[in-house]
Amino acid sequence: MTVSYDSLLPCQSLRVAIMGAGNVGRTLAQRIVEKDLADVVLLDVVEGLPQGVALDLMEAQGLEDHNCQVTGTNHYEETAAADLVVITAGRARTPGISRDDLLAINAKIVAEVAEKAAKHSPNAIFIVVTNPLDVMTYLTHKVTGLPSQRVMGMAGVLDSSRLQTFIAMELGISTANVTAMVLGGHGDLMVPLPNYCTVNGIPITELLDSQTIDRLMARTRQGGAEVVKLLRTGGAYYAPASSAYVMIETILRNQSRLLPTAAYLQGEYGLNDIYIGVPCFLGCGGIKKILEVKLTSQEQEALHISANSVRKNINLVLESVGVK
Ligand code: LAC
Repeated sequence: MTVSYDSLLPCQSLRVAIMGAGNVGRTLAQRIVEKDLADVVLLDVVEGLPQGVALDLMEAQGLEDHNCQVTGTNHYEETAAADLVVITAGRARTPGISRDDLLAINAKIVAEVAEKAAKHSPNAIFIVVTNPLDVMTYLTHKVTGLPSQRVMGMAGVLDSSRLQTFIAMELGISTANVTAMVLGGHGDLMVPLPNYCTVNGIPITELLDSQTIDRLMARTRQGGAEVVKLLRTGGAYYAPASSAYVMIETILRNQSRLLPTAAYLQGEYGLNDIYIGVPCFLGCGGIKKILEVKLTSQEQEALHISANSVRKNINLVLESVGVK
């Protein structure tokens, strides 16, 4: 018997477009398909690179037992109609280069990538991963003109995951018992919140002395740099890819999870017209709600100091790429 495939209804899979096939982009692609979440199209300017990564991942499809497709391309048209776009394109950190040093180089790249990606996927939700994170997310919002609910940055999940790991390591317990929360800009001025870090609901302030907590917070602030120093050739990518994955899964599966996210603030936390890390409920449609949690006056001040530094860089970037 022959089956006529034409008679079958076309299936619509979820589709994620990843801009940049570097370490973060390709690791994220692997996570998405191997967890059977969505089809992935990987775009990069280097000819052959995204195609090679895609082919390599597809050749493991049977072994990993998933049904998602990965394709690679150098053309924006082929990323069209994505449900979600992730921007990882740009230079990564190397030893001695801070996230802010990447400002001018990555602003040019992200402005172009975001504009072209949005043209082909105007209904997509955008997650920015390129550093300096908060500034690149602001720039993406600005150049795409998309509603702020649909443009966000990945950083707080990563910073919180690092702190969660350090707390678990310190106490010699499972990370499954630990929740951690880090707000603010993704940089040395990020704001870890010890009062919202718990071990199965018990605040860490009851389990660790303040000196130890300070040490873990300081290590978290330097978390990215610590990996850069060890790797020498670039930045972290496993934990960043996992962090982006959690946000993507939350959105595409409409899970309404509370995740620290770089979001556009319009008065929340006393800040306006800025992207910075705050707790957000994510789900279908993107950012469903920004949650204003109670901060100590010190934490509130630290958040504003972090925001001032982000704002300074936003102003530099808007000037350098000629966006008003
Ligand atoms: C880090 C980079 C991704 O924190 O910013 O490792």
